[in-house]
Amino acid sequence: MAVITVNPRGTADVVPEDSWKWRKAEEVLRRVSDAAGIKEIRTPVFEHTELFMRGVGDTTDVVQKEMYTFNDKGGRSVTLRPEGTAGAVRAFIQNGLFNAPLPVKMFYMISCFRYEKPQAGRLREFHQYGVEFFGAAGAAADAEVISVASSIFSAFGLSGSVSLKINSIGCRECRAKYNQALREYFSLHREELCPTCLDRLERNPMRILDCKSPVCSALAEGAPRLPDYLCEDCAAHFEDVKKRLDGLGIEYTVDPGIVRGLDYYNRTVFEFVTDRLGAQGTVLGGGRYDPLVKELGGPDIPALGFAMGLERLILLLTETGFFDGFSPAGCSIYIASAGERAELAAAKAVAALRKKGISCECDVCGRSLKAQMKYADRIGAEFTAVLGDNELETGRAAVKNMKDGSVTEISLEELSEGRFM
Ligand code: HAM
Repeated sequence: MAVITVNPRGTADVVPEDSWKWRKAEEVLRRVSDAAGIKEIRTPVFEHTELFMRGVGDTTDVVQKEMYTFNDKGGRSVTLRPEGTAGAVRAFIQNGLFNAPLPVKMFYMISCFRYEKPQAGRLREFHQYGVEFFGAAGAAADAEVISVASSIFSAFGLSGSVSLKINSIGCRECRAKYNQALREYFSLHREELCPTCLDRLERNPMRILDCKSPVCSALAEGAPRLPDYLCEDCAAHFEDVKKRLDGLGIEYTVDPGIVRGLDYYNRTVFEFVTDRLGAQGTVLGGGRYDPLVKELGGPDIPALGFAMGLERLILLLTETGFFDGFSPAGCSIYIASAGERAELAAAKAVAALRKKGISCECDVCGRSLKAQMKYADRIGAEFTAVLGDNELETGRAAVKNMKDGSVTEISLEELSEGRFM
């Protein structure tokens, strides 16, 4: 097939028959955000490459292998955002949002780009709903952010389909000690590590814990555990988070293997995972990233957040039957017409009904009456009316309920006002 008729690998169309599902899901996400006082932020699709190198971290897979980076016509290196946090932090600093009452709470619904190997639930252009909280250092904020994430799953009826895993990756000092312990441990198994992990050994040994290769993950099982390397403050913070989650009745398991793939995290990290989506089971991931605002040139303000993959959410919602109870917004009435005068009258009635927010259609293809009725049937119109010379003369039309076949006669005025429903 010619290149112009095929979408690039790892991208997907959302066709009109399916887009209502996305809207439905987005509606729920917006409602949950509103209820939690989280306001939307919109940032550019591309940013200076430097932002992601510094923000996401230049030892991460995302920055090293997966970014869509190019020089624009002015010779500047720009990158299509691989995630939303770096841009949100940049906007937080640039717009002086730290002057607003803290915590500043924001959400985004965005497309992201990563050059990954595409498979079910993993795309090169994908979408995220993300939340970022700025200005709250205590464990109450960790618990609140996790609680918001958890409330999303319950709003979708998915609480039973996902489980929450949490961990603490401590602060820079805890991690320096831990990384050293990991280097010592994995160095003993240097020959067994996959080439990628061999490279990670010096630069970022914690990433080895995330490796999917069977040999590396088996080795990771016996590796030193991060909780044993937490400093007193980080350990106390993590205990406090757990206590608060217990108090809120949010179930979780502590999984020392949750290390997250981006460099900015510290202390609490978490993921909501499902076993219903095969290999791509992480539906939501997040954590604290206290040093990032300062590192990117802003004031020393702690922050935390999460992002959820919308493709994975939609797959999960489809799998669990969430959409079965809904249907796409349909056509309330199809007004068919026979003859030029009637065609105009139908178009006017349709315009009046649409002003009232009633969804309706009329013929715009010059079809025969029979073909118009077939079309009305195919689009699932709830009611139909036919306008012809007779109806225009008497000023009355028969409206048919397509479900039960009943017919009501009303005036054309009533028809235009929607008084057939
Ligand atoms: P992340 O774990 O890289 O975190 O991505 C969050 C979620 O986006 C994943 O759990 C997954 O559902 C989805 N996702 C990631 N990559 C793909 C892909 N290639 N195809 C489909 N879905 C994907 C972040 O992006 C952080 N910025 C989250 C965060 C916000 N942490 C703090 N604040």
